[in-house]
Amino acid sequence: MRIYDVITKKKHGEALTEQEIRFFVSEYTAGNIPDYQVSSLLMAICLKGMNDEETYILTDAIARSGDSVDLSRFGALTADKHSTGGVGDKTTLIVAPLAAALGCKVAKMSGRGLGHTGGTVDKLESFPGYRVALSPEEFISQVEKIGIAVIGQSGNLAPADKKLYALRDVTATVDSIPLITSSIMGKKLAAGSHSIVLDVKCGSGAFLKTPEDAEILAKNMVRIGRMCGRNTMALITNMDVPLGYAVGNSLEVKEAIATLKGEGPKDLTEICLALASSMAHLALGISFDEAEKRARELLYSGAALRKFKEWICAQGADPDYVDNTQMFKGSLYEVPVYATEQGYVAGMDAEAIGVAAMVLGAGRRTKDDVIDHAAGIVLKKRHGDAVKPNDVLAILYTDKKDSIADAEKIFRGAIRFSLDAVAEEKIIYAKVTGA
Ligand code: URA
Repeated sequence: MRIYDVITKKKHGEALTEQEIRFFVSEYTAGNIPDYQVSSLLMAICLKGMNDEETYILTDAIARSGDSVDLSRFGALTADKHSTGGVGDKTTLIVAPLAAALGCKVAKMSGRGLGHTGGTVDKLESFPGYRVALSPEEFISQVEKIGIAVIGQSGNLAPADKKLYALRDVTATVDSIPLITSSIMGKKLAAGSHSIVLDVKCGSGAFLKTPEDAEILAKNMVRIGRMCGRNTMALITNMDVPLGYAVGNSLEVKEAIATLKGEGPKDLTEICLALASSMAHLALGISFDEAEKRARELLYSGAALRKFKEWICAQGADPDYVDNTQMFKGSLYEVPVYATEQGYVAGMDAEAIGVAAMVLGAGRRTKDDVIDHAAGIVLKKRHGDAVKPNDVLAILYTDKKDSIADAEKIFRGAIRFSLDAVAEEKIIYAKVTGA
């Protein structure tokens, strides 16, 4: 088989065969096809699309390109979640222990942040001593004992995606529904859970800007997940504004702990309850309403918080940090940003706020940057709030004095005011259970 012929076929909009798809994935992963030919094929896929059968095979080929986690001993109880990425998205810190308290087995691999979006592994490393790398035996044994373990993604999980994604990133081929679907679902399949709940974000802080685009992707991922034999559903959620008030690693951990104490922001609490209930609905076979009722009880009774402590303690962190969040390292500079005008907060560009937090040290411009776990932004005003001059809009946290002016400028540019009151934004746009 020649890759040239596969490219030509897709250029003419023809469907690729299973053999052709598996050939290009395995030969590219093995280093036997050059980047320039695969770039050309990716662009042809971007422009001509892929049908469900092709997307399913591509997803399966990506999933099988490296290691996979065998969670079969837990039967159908395993449940995973995936967020397409956003600003202030600390949901895994709340949803994972809540789902475990509900009775799901949560054996989760998470990623690091890049650019304006954060990553769960970085947030967890705000706890000194938290071990993001466990041996496969430790990982499984912890899930067996306490129902939850969250580690960094293993180096050889879906290596085909690692190569393809890096190439897509520099060839303007990220925004293709079949390519995004196979990339995300390929990794989720390899990670082994039987049930998968997708949090598909849309808005200024997400890579999909409209609920319509998010729905197309969500439906596609749910369909392909089911074709691959996994119980899959999706929520389409708002990422026009950051989730909650905190953006930055330990700042977000503190907000997650408050949420597990039943004192979290409304939007964050609502999304977490919906995600954990969806996981329990799929994995435990109970109705969504019953799952949500139980999730609410476990959140407000402190059971989910206890599970959180058990989890981080099992992975080497000191649970006293949960009771006394002052123990987290602070910042040298805590700088309030004051309002200069009267009105209502009518818009918050989540991506720009993520970039401002990155400038303060909370995120990475390139994947080798070192982050400051204490850095970031805590919003004091959110979408819809009334503001008058000298009100504090946010507090910037950093150790880098010379980043403050830049971050403040970016942050101010992210906020839009209106003289008229603005309607509250919807948090969850839709639930996709089948397609
Ligand atoms: N996230 C992924 O993991 N893959 C994509 O293609 C897009 C977002």
